[in-house]
Amino acid sequence: MTDESIGQQVVTEQSQQTMKKYKIEHDRPNCIGCAACAAVAPDFWTMHEDGKSDIVGCKKRDDEWEELDIDEKDYAVNKEAADSCPVNVIHITNKETGEKII
Ligand code: F3S
Repeated sequence: MTDESIGQQVVTEQSQQTMKKYKIEHDRPNCIGCAACAAVAPDFWTMHEDGKSDIVGCKKRDDEWEELDIDEKDYAVNKEAADSCPVNVIHITNKETGEKII
């Protein structure tokens, strides 16, 4: 393997790690603690002692929303969680197209 091809391999692996296809966002201030998200997608949503949910491993923003980038394989279960939320505080964006799915 040449130095150049090793370099390309590193770049490819880095971009696969950072280029997750979807972003999930949680409008936590408006979460009413219904817990449907945690029931539907417990690997991604957990209930906090204040009665609201958290995205597991998320980045917390200054506006108290939470966000997490996810792979395509994790889209369906999070879409189901978003669909199950009665107050629509879970949002999903396709990062490649900018489409706001929910
Ligand atoms: Fe909150 Fe909706 Fe989950 S209200 S606890 S984000 S189902």
